[in-house]
Amino acid sequence: MRITYLGHSVFYLEGGEEKIIIDPFLRGNAQATKTPDDFTELTKILVTHGHGDHIGDTVELAKKTGATVFCNHEIAHYLAGKGVENIHSMHIGGRFGSIKMTPALHGSGIEEDGQMLYGGNPGGFVVDVGGYRIYHAGDTGLTMDMQLLEEENIDVALLPIGGNYTMDLRDAARAVRLIRPRYVIPMHFDTFEVIAADPNELQVPANVQRVILKPGETMQLQSKR
Ligand code: NI
Ligand code: MN
Repeated sequence: MRITYLGHSVFYLEGGEEKIIIDPFLRGNAQATKTPDDFTELTKILVTHGHGDHIGDTVELAKKTGATVFCNHEIAHYLAGKGVENIHSMHIGGRFGSIKMTPALHGSGIEEDGQMLYGGNPGGFVVDVGGYRIYHAGDTGLTMDMQLLEEENIDVALLPIGGNYTMDLRDAARAVRLIRPRYVIPMHFDTFEVIAADPNELQVPANVQRVILKPGETMQLQSKR
């Protein structure tokens, strides 16, 4: 199972038959090491909320690859209006197969042509890939709801650390103590000046491994199957 960080909150997960991209903000993302042109095959696209740095290139990638987009109902409606055909709408607390949508404390408006469209509630995802359970928090502040994730037995938590719009280093460290994942990978920092942060300063308990990926880098986990 492979987890590749593509900068900001973009992750590409490969395991078993799955090729999943989460929050595919590639064009316009100065950190991104890939463009939508680099992806010809995807099974799923997961979108945590409606902000441009998360919806990103979803429409283009969905149309090109035929991957199913998993997102909240309001974003599903928006994407359908853009001509995306394979969409699975779900909502917070809901599970469908290998995917569960989790709460996030944030916004989800979709900016378009100077307008702000309603994008429902923001979320995150717990997704099973290649025998591992990954939690992508989306954009969120620290919330006690994260305590519920401890029982989900998360292998890898992808957590924002940049502050201002999301948890900062201190709150992300508190989130790690609530979630108790085996590994934590910091995200959503340094893309913009206002979210500058040093991932090396993320404090984690001794039984949690902090994995710092630079954009383009991959973490490989031994196949469980
Ligand atoms: Ni956001
Ligand atoms: Mn964001």
